[in-house]
Amino acid sequence: MSSPRAKRWLLAALGLVALVAAGCASDAPQDFLNNQAGPRAERADSLWDITFAIAVVVFVIVEGLIVFALVRFRQRPGREAKQFHGNTRVEIALTVVPALILAGLAVPTVDTIFDLDKRPDDAMDITVVGHQFWWEYRYPDLDLVTANELHIPVGTPVFLSIEGATDDVIHSFWVPRLGGTQDVVPGRTNTLILEADEAGVYLGQCKEFCGLSHANMRLRVHADPPDEFERWVSEQQQPAAEPTDATAQRGRELFLQSACIGCHAIEGTDAAATVGPDLTHLASRDTFASGMFELNEARLRAWVADAPAEKPGVLMPSGLREMGLNQEDVAAIVSYLLTLE
Ligand code: CUA
Repeated sequence: MSSPRAKRWLLAALGLVALVAAGCASDAPQDFLNNQAGPRAERADSLWDITFAIAVVVFVIVEGLIVFALVRFRQRPGREAKQFHGNTRVEIALTVVPALILAGLAVPTVDTIFDLDKRPDDAMDITVVGHQFWWEYRYPDLDLVTANELHIPVGTPVFLSIEGATDDVIHSFWVPRLGGTQDVVPGRTNTLILEADEAGVYLGQCKEFCGLSHANMRLRVHADPPDEFERWVSEQQQPAAEPTDATAQRGRELFLQSACIGCHAIEGTDAAATVGPDLTHLASRDTFASGMFELNEARLRAWVADAPAEKPGVLMPSGLREMGLNQEDVAAIVSYLLTLE
């Protein structure tokens, strides 16, 4: 059969196979099924494994019975399909058995939920604030603020207080491999505990549609070995570096005279606003614009020149069109930003 209809079915079947096969990708950094990287993620995953195993057994039995009934009692030449009307015993069984399964499953579920929600005594506190379209991280006990790239020490649970800014929309913080996801709701504080048992960079993503750049609201968690984490903390606690190069010095002047200081903070200067990301140690990050771009001179220039053209819906105005800067000013500001290590 090669009718157009058969072709459509074949195409649909191939599409389905492709979608299912995509789940087997080995280079999927946000895979949360077989790629856990911490005790809390593994705990949640083992609950999923139990639930999934039970669901598979139920699926096979139920589908098997349906197929059996379809074949066994079907209409044949000279015989009408079998007619049934209710069966009290079967109905009772079909009510009691699922109820028992669900009650049994509730025990490990409730246990896991309450366990994962308990703040461990040795946890480190971090406040996460979701903004359109970036992440703010505050370490209240370490007196430091950073954005988009979260640093945590390996082997220490971190207790995240996830806040929604009151004038913002709903976001959702998600780092699949560390097992964590939590909604970011304006005016509320939710909590989430993450723990990595292996050093590395874990990718995350806002997973609640929040506007034009929802897909560009990415994040990274750097799980550092304890000594490296200590070093990172002491570097981040320093005020911003003083530029020595003439261009960078001019860039700093421009920064402090222009609209930049209406939104950003740079510790040790007059810039102290908290509308946009803290830039005190911007150049110590690998990426900017919420994980959207690699942090380098060319990318930063394009960004300062015309951020709205780079990222849809961004609140930052265009340097060239709205802030009265020219290309030379942009280059000077970027040269200053690159000194902020
Ligand atoms: Cu923030 Cu989607």
